[in-house]
Amino acid sequence: MRIRPRRLRATPGVRRLVRETRLDVDCLVAPLFVVEGAGIREEIPSMPGQCRLSLDALAEEVRELADLGIPGVALFPKIDDALKDARGSASLDPEGLAPRAIRAAREAAEPMLIIADVALDPYSSDGHDGVVRQGRVENDVTLDILARMATVLAGAGADIVAPSDMMDGRVGAIRDALDAAGHADVAILSYAAKYASAFYGPFRDALDSAPRTNENVPGDKKTYQMDPANGEEALRELDLDLAEGADIVMVKPAIPYLDVIYRVRRRSTVPVAAYHVSGTYAMLSAAAQNGWIDREEAMMESLTAIRRAGADIILTYFAKEAAKKLRLAPNP
Ligand code: PBG
Repeated sequence: MRIRPRRLRATPGVRRLVRETRLDVDCLVAPLFVVEGAGIREEIPSMPGQCRLSLDALAEEVRELADLGIPGVALFPKIDDALKDARGSASLDPEGLAPRAIRAAREAAEPMLIIADVALDPYSSDGHDGVVRQGRVENDVTLDILARMATVLAGAGADIVAPSDMMDGRVGAIRDALDAAGHADVAILSYAAKYASAFYGPFRDALDSAPRTNENVPGDKKTYQMDPANGEEALRELDLDLAEGADIVMVKPAIPYLDVIYRVRRRSTVPVAAYHVSGTYAMLSAAAQNGWIDREEAMMESLTAIRRAGADIILTYFAKEAAKKLRLAPNP
């Protein structure tokens, strides 16, 4: 036998030399959940190790992440039920939880990139990413609210706004509104291909944002989030978001959609992000807690696979853990 692929696997040194994909702390973004109050670090039962943070705890967390070299955080507010309504009006309050969280994070660690979520669901009494009227999630009425919400978040100091709603035309509407409000430098990270996935359950626990089910409200997000069966359609969404001015595009979830990341990376002319979502974090954590898989190994393998598929940026609840591990052993 002349050809023996095992030669290049024989030692850690040679494996390190020929490794095709490297994980780097520079590509990690940590999603964080924020709540009103003080001194709160409330663990989310379906996401072991992840907490809802009050603004003082958020500041501590952001400082720690900055010290580890993590370049960005994505903030998600848990809004009090009393403030929720059908139009998600609380999302337009410049003194609301999200703008205050942005300012607290900025103050805690100046160079940290702050990514602010643009969607109605945390603010919606119906638990939807758009305004519900007569059982329908209305697209065009929602655009105006999203555009105004994005300017509020930019006004509070967000570097990047990230529309996660999947309404048609929202990237263009947000770009126009940002520019008109003097925020031409604020970037848009669009959730370009976001699937109607069963893997968002723990996130909805964290924010208490699951779609309400009654006869007037659709109990799922299938009329706006994509059908998991579709891959070509992701490219159509990508083209639209690029044409409307997206600066970064995202595929979500990451893990069961690696083929979509690959296709989007090959076609996109802008950086591609992928979201290692709450459900995949929860699955891995639960299996590890049971002793059924090795948490660290499975984490690093998952994140490496997302990079191998083509993601430039990974949003992951493992960001802190992975950064610590990479700092100890960059090339395990
Ligand atoms: C909603 C939003 C969701 C996530 C991010 N933004 C949930 C949903 O669409 O219902 C999910 C993230 C995760 O599961 O980690 N705008």
